[in-house]
Amino acid sequence: MVRNVIRFINPYKAGKSPSDIAAMYGIPEGDVVKLGSNENPYPPSEDVKEAYIRALSGVNRYPHPDYGELKREIAGYTGVDEECISAGNGASEVLRTICDITLEPFDRVIIPVPGYSLYAMLAMVRDARIEFIEAPEYKIDAELVESLDVQDAKIVFLCSPNNPTGNIIPGEEIKRIAKKCNGIVVVDEVYAEFTGKSCIELTKKYSNLIVVRSFSKFFGLAGLRVGYAVGNPEIVSAMEKCRLPFNISIAAAMAAIAAINSIDYYMEVRNKIVKERKRLAKELKRIGFFVYPSEANFILIKSDKEICSELEKKGIIVRDVTGFIGLSGFHARITVGLPEENSRLIQAMATISQC
Ligand SMILES: Cc1ncc(COP(=O)(O)O)c(C=O)c1O
Repeated sequence: MVRNVIRFINPYKAGKSPSDIAAMYGIPEGDVVKLGSNENPYPPSEDVKEAYIRALSGVNRYPHPDYGELKREIAGYTGVDEECISAGNGASEVLRTICDITLEPFDRVIIPVPGYSLYAMLAMVRDARIEFIEAPEYKIDAELVESLDVQDAKIVFLCSPNNPTGNIIPGEEIKRIAKKCNGIVVVDEVYAEFTGKSCIELTKKYSNLIVVRSFSKFFGLAGLRVGYAVGNPEIVSAMEKCRLPFNISIAAAMAAIAAINSIDYYMEVRNKIVKERKRLAKELKRIGFFVYPSEANFILIKSDKEICSELEKKGIIVRDVTGFIGLSGFHARITVGLPEENSRLIQAMATISQC
């Protein structure tokens, strides 16, 4: 009954929740620190909360099917025209819609690794042929781009800043890949606001470039599920045609609009996160871990032993990315939390490293 390929797909592995750790180690849920899912640790702005609550009185009605107001806000925020925006139920849905409108069975899909696991899963569902390109430490430089055979690829998935390494791809290399590739180049920028570097401007010149963004990270709305794509109107209108009708709830759309209008609040939050990321990186290096350079709201570290379950026993969740394709040795991805959460992590890491 189920297609063969589905049997070979590993389910998406989300990070652990405080309730999992409470059940495993008997630690009260409220004492667990969650640094495993690259979430924003700060609450929504007051305007976002109000917009969400206001929207609830209208939930007996469907949202407007075009999401014009949301798209206009996003267009203003990103500096493109409204017809260049397709919105979806998180960046995850947007990525899936891109696969739906482009991939035929056996199409080539190129994914540099270590990278985000969802791309391969979505491409597999479309029966595509996936080629992982090993890019040590995800360095997508001129040499690597030169060696890439992307001309007939249907999709090249790039991620900047990359999950799990945290580094960015230089705009020059993105341009070169877009020029070389006859298919679509997707640049996943869900962490872009933490670095301020984006290739959205390039979508105006390169019609095969699509940038994917999210409200889950910088805007801290992971639980509401809103994401969007920026690209040329032809691709965008195909995406709009194939996405599910009413794919974003009224309340989520209203909260996303209010989030854009609370930009000053979110820039302050971002500055706090970036400051804490620098402190975390410095302290973890001092303790003796190899810390990858990151421009996102998380850092990747390499250790000479397993540390994730040791941290869990102390009530701290990080993401164990050991064994990810493209990474060798023990690796953990740590989300930047609140200052007190980061201090607890640093203390725990210092203890673990001495054992
Ligand atoms: C690189 C990357 N892309 C996309 C997503 C999915 O984002 P969303 O919550 O908007 O679906 C994530 C989530 O962690 C991610 O790390």
